[in-house]
Amino acid sequence: APDARRNGDLYRDYNDDKNATSQDTLYTTSNGVPYPHPYETQRAGENGPLLLQDFHLVDLLSHFDRERIPERVVHAKGSGAHGFYRTTDPLDDLCLADIFKAGKMCPITIRFSTVGGESGSHDLARDPRGFAVKFRTDEGNWDMVANNTPVFFLRDPAKFPHFIHTQKRNPATNLSGADDSTMFWDYFSQNPESIHQVMILMGDRGIPDGYRHMHGYSGHTMKLVNKNGDWVYAQFHMKSKQGAKFITQADSATKSPDYSQKDLYYAIERGEYPGWDVSVQIMKPKEAEELWEKQKINVFDLTHIWPQGQFPLRKVGEFYLNENVKNYFAEIEQVAFNPSHMIPGIEPSADPVLQSRLFSYPDTHRHRIGTNYQQLPVNQPRVPYRLANFQRNGQMAFYNQGSRPNYLSSIEPISFRNRSIDLNKLHGHFIGEAIAFLSEIRPEDFNAPRALWEKVFDDGAKARFVSNVSGHMANCSEKEIIKRQIGIFREVSEDLASRIEKATGVKGYPGISSLRFNGSHNGMAKDESLRPAN
Ligand code: HEM
Repeated sequence: APDARRNGDLYRDYNDDKNATSQDTLYTTSNGVPYPHPYETQRAGENGPLLLQDFHLVDLLSHFDRERIPERVVHAKGSGAHGFYRTTDPLDDLCLADIFKAGKMCPITIRFSTVGGESGSHDLARDPRGFAVKFRTDEGNWDMVANNTPVFFLRDPAKFPHFIHTQKRNPATNLSGADDSTMFWDYFSQNPESIHQVMILMGDRGIPDGYRHMHGYSGHTMKLVNKNGDWVYAQFHMKSKQGAKFITQADSATKSPDYSQKDLYYAIERGEYPGWDVSVQIMKPKEAEELWEKQKINVFDLTHIWPQGQFPLRKVGEFYLNENVKNYFAEIEQVAFNPSHMIPGIEPSADPVLQSRLFSYPDTHRHRIGTNYQQLPVNQPRVPYRLANFQRNGQMAFYNQGSRPNYLSSIEPISFRNRSIDLNKLHGHFIGEAIAFLSEIRPEDFNAPRALWEKVFDDGAKARFVSNVSGHMANCSEKEIIKRQIGIFREVSEDLASRIEKATGVKGYPGISSLRFNGSHNGMAKDESLRPAN
């Protein structure tokens, strides 16, 4: 044979070859044929039209025409880097995942993001931040697809596309949600369960000072299962070792649109590796029932937090980012995080928003990146065993599992690991009939926002909150929307509502019990006629 190399080894990335010199780096067309110069175009005669036979030009232009992949439908603007995680305080009494054993480490990739803006939008938008971590464990990839706030705008997943559309471009004006206060407040004033997240968004925490200075939260309740099959509920917290820092609305306007990208990239280049502590809050199933009975906090409702006084943080490990990417597109734009990438010992809870996300992310990855997105280097599992399954072919199948039979064969068998969890023990309590679900607004929805206003915000933070809200509402075209939102603020605090009334010059509703909302049972309405038919 002219060359002992197997065909599969030929297409290696020469740019990753550290010993390559510029002498070895030869300009070629995509099929590897050396070409004299990139600026050379073939034409008929000196001033004639171009030749279709000029494969070099066709190759160049047609690849260029296809350079963009769809941006993420949400979280399109982001930054990321690589690093490592290590367990400092083993969790093996509660969780059988190998990564939580003493001293265990694994490589990670993180992508931080804003949510509503497009891929070129401003890093310092007033918006939650995404905080997605891919842990490449010895048992497969575990993705923690978290945000920088412990709560979220909604508890019914069917609202998510509606909510996101109000943050995106208006179909008529084509103005972005950030410039369309009417859509923004129309949604929030119709969906009062958003109030806790709205208070965080419009307060000081609404614009983190770059990505290094923010915390991350799973928000959702997960389940941890130990080797005996016993399980507890858990929430994950990732606390910045750099501390949390925020930027004011006025300051944010003076900064570069790529502020957070620059901050993260150059900190890592300088060797100032940012780090986070990983902790869990733990709750037994019985405690979850009591929390509902006594405090009306449902652990499957991510508009609520678990009180830290009752459920303290337990440190598990830490991670650092110590490596910038060499190629942003390959390593960050194409990275695919998915809440359903879980490893043995970590299970989803019945939180309906989480359950919907388990479907939505791999679905969008197949659309955004392609069927074989898991084969891209940044998404590949790094496991100490050979991967085998029966997923074959599809566009861009690069690792197609060779000549191994593509069915469960008795001639060339593969091996199986026993299930480590007793599914009956885990899911035995799901009983009952299918029900249609419309979330209900309850007085308890306003407790945490009230505590924020009364106990957490100091005078300066209150003044900035009122200025942020009223400044935004000044561009809202419908007075009715402002009146409704003030009614919601009044359920939080009379003081808050009257300050917004003063700042906007609009007299709001006295509360929400006389209002009827789109798509919610208004549990607070005394008047039955205000409640939508079931
Ligand atoms: C990104 C859907 C709620 C955190 C995305 C993407 C989709 C999506 C389709 C784009 C993914 C991609 O193109 O790779 C949903 C749905 C939700 C929901 C349907 C609710 C029903 C949440 C919540 C959190 C969250 C509650 C956090 C607790 C993120 C993050 C990203 C993301 C961090 C960016 C991941 C990355 O950097 O690639 N979401 N999401 N999402 N979502 Fe959600």
